[in-house]
Formats: sequence, C-alpha cells, structure tokens
Amino acid sequence: MSEFKREPLIEVENVFKQYTLAGETLNALDGISLTVYKGDFMAIIGPSGSGKSTLMNVLGCLDTPTSGRYVLDGAEVEKLSENKLATIRNTKIGFIFQSFHLLPRLRAIENVELPLIYRGMGAKERRALAKEAMEKVGLAERMFHLPNQLSGGQQQRVAIARALAGSPPLLLADEPTGALDSKTSRDVIGLLKQLNAEGNTIVLITHDPKVAEQAKRVVRIQDGKLSEERSEAS
Ligand SMILES: Nc1ncnc2c1ncn2[C@@H]1O[C@H](COP(=O)(O)OP(=O)(O)OP(=O)(O)O)[C@@H](O)[C@H]1O
Ligand SMILES: [Mg+2]
Repeated sequence: MSEFKREPLIEVENVFKQYTLAGETLNALDGISLTVYKGDFMAIIGPSGSGKSTLMNVLGCLDTPTSGRYVLDGAEVEKLSENKLATIRNTKIGFIFQSFHLLPRLRAIENVELPLIYRGMGAKERRALAKEAMEKVGLAERMFHLPNQLSGGQQQRVAIARALAGSPPLLLADEPTGALDSKTSRDVIGLLKQLNAEGNTIVLITHDPKVAEQAKRVVRIQDGKLSEERSEAS
C-alpha cells in the first residue's frame, strides 16, 4: 500500500484543568496531550476521580481548559466564545450519555430530530434524516414509541440515533453502557463498532475493561495524566 496519512480530528496539547478548593489547587487534568484520528475508535479508561468526566467535558466543549490547546476538526476551541462553542457542540459532536437523556414527552423519532431543530433544519429534511438514523440503529419499528415504552437498550439506541442524525464528525460517549445489563451492553457496543466500521470516529469513556477491549485504541487516565495502553496497527 502507498503512503497513507491519517487525518487528526482531535488535537489536545498540554491541557491542564485546575480546581482550587480551600486554597488547595488540584490538577484534574495534568498536562494532557492526545491526538484522535478520523476513523478512530478510542476508549478512555481510568478509576473513579482520575479525570474522565473532566476530560470528556473539555473534549465535548462543555468546559474549557485552564491552559493548553484544543483543536477539534480544525477549530481552535479554547479561543471560541460561548455562542461559537454551542454551535460546535451542535454540529461537530454527537453525545451519548449513560442515562440516555431522552425527553420523556417526545416520541423516539422526535427526540432524534431535536439537534436538527436546533440547527434550523426544515421539518421534512429532519424527519428524513431522523428516520434514516432510526433505521441504522435497528429501530424502524419503534419510531413513534415514547421513551418509557422502550427498553433500556432501545432507549440507548434512540440516543445513538440522535447523536448520528446530523452526521457529526465525532461521536462522544460517556459510560454508554453504564445503565445496561451485560447482554444489552454488548449489543450497544456492537452497534458502536458497526458505526465505526462505517466511518464514524468514536471516543468512549468507560471504567469497564470489557467495553474498552472492543475499541481499537485504549488510553488510560490516572491522576489527570494520560498514557496509551493499546493502539491497533492500521
Ligand atoms: N467542579 C469541581 N471542583 C473541584 N474539584 C473537582 C470538580 N470537578 C471534579 N473535581 C475533581 O477532579 C478530579 C477528577 O474528577 P472527574 O469527575 O473528572 O473524575 P472521573 O474520572 O470522571 O470519576 P468517576 O469515575 O467517579 O466519574 C476529582 O478529584 C474530583 O474531585
Ligand atoms: Mg465521571
């Protein structure tokens, strides 16, 4: 094969996140550098209190670092205003959470349409994209169910469809299987693997080694510091 250059999607350089409580400063992120390439499926693992959620919030543009550089899909995130960050979150990142975060009064397909509404997309176009995403996660028969009429695994599939619908360059998942039993958890990870095989870039945060095993790259965070544990040759 000829020379193949991987394109970075996420570039984090020497990022610190400091919290000061009662005069004591804690580096929740302690000089983190990380590159995630397009097409990666990366798991970030680490024990409780190691900085996983802090890192997830920075990567997801929900929080800004105290210092350091973060470039997401060519945008220098640390320099952006709150408004611009909201746009980045909506267009560049599909979020998947442990507790699904579906709105209980909206039907499954309406939940999937929500981020597209925030983008100002017209009704017809967003219904078509939402339908396509629901089919992709295997829930074509459940589009008009309310969240409480779905199983936990189905609700997480709806949340994955919502993350996918606008084709964001990055899928960011925080303990996506944390609320699921082991079989349902395997199904959901299987779906994420399939989406990665179809070209989606996925960063997943987990404390479960079984879940991390399924990713192509595993990075460990400990006391706010990162080390690469496993990297699949590509
Ligand atoms: N707002 C805050 N103010 C002060 N300290 C904080 C704040 N948020 C997090 N921390 C501290 O930063 C460190 C990392 O926290 P973080 O929530 O990122 O851990 P985690 O790896 O997600 O843990 P868990 O697996 O329990 O969710 C912890 O020591 C925590 O106490
Ligand atoms: Mg956490």
